[in-house]
Amino acid sequence: MSKILIVYYSRTGNTEKMAMVIAEGIKTVQGTEVEVKYQATPEELTSYDAVVIGTPTYHHDMSLDMKNLFEESAVKNINLKDKVGAAFGSYGWSGEAPRLVLEIMKNKFQMRTIEPGFLIKYEPDQKDLEKCREFGKKIAEEITLRT
Ligand SMILES: Cc1cc2nc3c(=O)[nH]c(=O)nc-3n(C[C@H](O)[C@H](O)[C@H](O)COP(=O)(O)O)c2cc1C
Repeated sequence: MSKILIVYYSRTGNTEKMAMVIAEGIKTVQGTEVEVKYQATPEELTSYDAVVIGTPTYHHDMSLDMKNLFEESAVKNINLKDKVGAAFGSYGWSGEAPRLVLEIMKNKFQMRTIEPGFLIKYEPDQKDLEKCREFGKKIAEEITLRT
């Protein structure tokens, strides 16, 4: 059974909507278990096979919560090597956050990233939510192949 964690931040609810439906998509694939959390400790990350981070882009950047999570994980020498990493988020016009998350996962923590990051502009509509479900399914399928 592959264990997947989705940890997300959302100020106005758009990335949260994505997170819930991505989790539904993951659940459609047999052999995967998913947990969705608003906050996680660095130590918690080690109990999963895959870490999926959801963060909107504010001021051309990822959320402060995610920066803190990465910084704390680095300071504590948390070993995430070879875990699968993926990133998504809502954005308005530039959407840098998921790419920045993947960059850190890959370069600092030597995680095996699923690229590119997944973006939805502002609030997801029905069609966007279908894409979220597909993204979740894709993550789960990749993980069952890689683990
Ligand atoms: C103060 C502020 C700054 C923002 N900066 C950016 C930005 O630099 N790039 C971008 O693509 N979107 C930017 N946005 C748009 C948000 O990413 C967008 O509203 C998104 O849907 C918020 O997601 P959330 O509901 O999960 O918090 C900004 C929004 C606000 C209010």
